[in-house]
Amino acid sequence: MKVTVFGTGYVGLVTGTCLAEMGNHVVCVDIDAAKVEGLNQGRIPIYEPGLTPMVVQNHQEGRLQFTTDAKSAVEHGDIIFIAVGTPPDEDGSADLQYVLAVADTIGRHLSRPAVVVNKSTVPVGTADRVEAAVASALQARGAVVAFDVVSNPEFLKEGDAVKDCMRPDRIVIGAKSAKALEQLKKLYAPFNRNHDRIVAMDVRSAELTKYAANAMLATKISFMNEMANIAERVGADIEMVRHGIGSDPRIGYSFIYPGAGYGGSCFPKDVQALERTACQHGYEAKILAAVEAVNDRQKDKLFELISRHFNGELKGRTFAVWGLAFKPNTDDMRAASSRNLLASLWAAGAKVQAFDPEAMHEAERIFGQRDDLALTGTANAALQNADALVVVTEWKNFRSPDFGQLKQQLSAAAVFDGRNIYDPETVEAAGLAYYGIGRGRSIAKAG
Ligand code: UDX
Repeated sequence: MKVTVFGTGYVGLVTGTCLAEMGNHVVCVDIDAAKVEGLNQGRIPIYEPGLTPMVVQNHQEGRLQFTTDAKSAVEHGDIIFIAVGTPPDEDGSADLQYVLAVADTIGRHLSRPAVVVNKSTVPVGTADRVEAAVASALQARGAVVAFDVVSNPEFLKEGDAVKDCMRPDRIVIGAKSAKALEQLKKLYAPFNRNHDRIVAMDVRSAELTKYAANAMLATKISFMNEMANIAERVGADIEMVRHGIGSDPRIGYSFIYPGAGYGGSCFPKDVQALERTACQHGYEAKILAAVEAVNDRQKDKLFELISRHFNGELKGRTFAVWGLAFKPNTDDMRAASSRNLLASLWAAGAKVQAFDPEAMHEAERIFGQRDDLALTGTANAALQNADALVVVTEWKNFRSPDFGQLKQQLSAAAVFDGRNIYDPETVEAAGLAYYGIGRGRSIAKAG
């Protein structure tokens, strides 16, 4: 089929590439000329396992094109995806200016019937606004062209984006017309083998499904972080509790890992946006507000533990920080807990030596050159002359360091484990002080 994708960010680029991989002819359009030029030369702007070879191959074989020419892109697609950003407004609502600008562009150039698909995460009611924007641009040029607007939210996770897109656990389609639904079903047929993953529904339910999914996951995390903070105070180990509750299939093991707070481009923004939507409809979403507040507080957790250990005397100390990305397998540092930690350490007069397997360029871009930051080439280099180690992101290669060697290297002999990846007893047996999230047992012992 002929597909157009507006936006070559995470969702747009991955969706376009996976659709090309399945044999469709995909044109991806973006207003950022440098990005388009780079993509045409095989330079992929994000780190995402498996994506680069897929982009390059489909591009070389002519199924995947990148352009800034919106007119030809609109003319190309039978199905036109909108996958542009919806950043938060000043008040936390999703800013729809990019989505509506694309809708206007579609209306200005549409010359034959098409299905317009909202893939961006957008508040309930946006499909109606997109429909109105396309219709008004068509009307302005006196054109009469039939089109449908469908909501088809994306559930891919950064770091697993290609896998999630090629093998989705569900394909949510919110459509008003049976014809548009059939067209999307046809497009997704190659992704929908063995068992039916398509969940068809009305447009507004599809829009809300995306927010409800992210809000539920964020709630699980904040709930566990709250339990961790209680565990710490009552002398229990949240890791034991996690195993104890996860074995109940009604609770399940996934997404109940306590840590230094959730980050990324979705959870913080979507929880806030859903809260705003509720508020605009006269409802105070108390759980969502608490999820957000608990997470904001959790992002200060590592600093609190550090500050407590050093009795607030951090001036002139050096901290090795392992992990800057908001989670492993990505270079994305949006709303990452590492940013809160670094800001607090700097404000307290400490120095940071940081390493992340993928996010070093991003860190350089965000922080620039500063005397109190050294971005090191290896994890080991970050430890040189440091007082203590702080693990913020659970990359696999941070999981089993030589603790004996750490003891030699770290002058204050302390490890702060923001993702509970170490066994407290093993770390303590090497003569290091261990601090995790919600690990009251070891804190009680250390005290
Ligand atoms: C999320 C959703 O999972 C995905 O379905 C949606 O399409 C986009 O938002 P993503 O932001 O890529 O995906 O990351 P995810 O793996 O969900 O992690 C989000 C954050 O939660 C990370 O900071 C992670 O460290 C944190 N997290 C996750 C926890 O703290 N504990 C957990 O148990 C799981």
